[in-house]
Amino acid sequence: MGRKVTKAVFPVAGLGTRFLPATKSIPKEIMTLVDRPLIQYAIDEARAAGIKEFIFVTSRGKGALEDYFDHAPELETSLRKRGKDELLDTLKNTNMESGAIAYIRQHKALGLGHAVWCARRLISPNEPFAVILPDDVIAAETPCLQQMVEAYDKLGGSMVAAMEVPPAQASAYGVLDVRDDMGSIVSVNGMVEKPKPDAAPSNLAVIGRYILAPKVLNNLNRLKSGAGGEIQLTDAIAAEIAEGRDVFGYRFRGQRFDCGSKAGFLQATVAFGLAREELQDEFLDYLKQMVTLQKAAQ
Ligand code: G1P
Repeated sequence: MGRKVTKAVFPVAGLGTRFLPATKSIPKEIMTLVDRPLIQYAIDEARAAGIKEFIFVTSRGKGALEDYFDHAPELETSLRKRGKDELLDTLKNTNMESGAIAYIRQHKALGLGHAVWCARRLISPNEPFAVILPDDVIAAETPCLQQMVEAYDKLGGSMVAAMEVPPAQASAYGVLDVRDDMGSIVSVNGMVEKPKPDAAPSNLAVIGRYILAPKVLNNLNRLKSGAGGEIQLTDAIAAEIAEGRDVFGYRFRGQRFDCGSKAGFLQATVAFGLAREELQDEFLDYLKQMVTLQKAAQ
């Protein structure tokens, strides 16, 4: 049903102030989980879902992020000479085909909706597109966006990744007003960005993966600022519902880490470290020792 999703927008213009001083000179998206930058996880997930064109919405000071996707001929030659084939493959995975990647500047930090709107000229009026927020890292057997594309192929409309959160945390998210709960899919009556405590329509929160109908970009044209004084993507998606078009929440299978927060980043580092065969034994031993020491100290 409908057109294939082959473009993804990556809003990466944020200042990353929660990670200062590191983000004084490196973009937050280049910070590493084990040995790969956050952005690499997002790219790999997009590729697995069939994305062929990558649109980055950037800002000042994101040069290192743009360079990351270039070829590194000297490094490649040196690895080849030394027979380091595995590292060479790892490196190749970071390269982008010419023309597959575009960078658009968001000149002012006016919100997530505004960041996505900045990419409007690169998306045709009949073309659905994905949005990936690289701060939300999702460990999953089938990558989250791929799960969503499979569901989207059957349902069409617009779709957001969704996850139950403790009620006290709902005000940190976009929250779904559920019409019909069908298990992994829910149809949606409305969406509220960062509702006040006690005003959340459910505890089903939007996580940073979206498949959007191109009309959402038109909705963004008309939007005024919403929660926090920013132009919100949530409001533009909610406008779809108001106009009678379908919006679904998708409860993905996988574990999400909030790498926009220090605690979440540390948790992801532990989880991805433990998932790596070459680190597993040594790292697990160390963690066990740490836990034993902590308990003894209490
Ligand atoms: C953004 C979205 C919000 C969503 C969240 C998921 O908020 O605006 O709807 O729930 O990402 O991580 P932010 O975390 O950028 O404030």
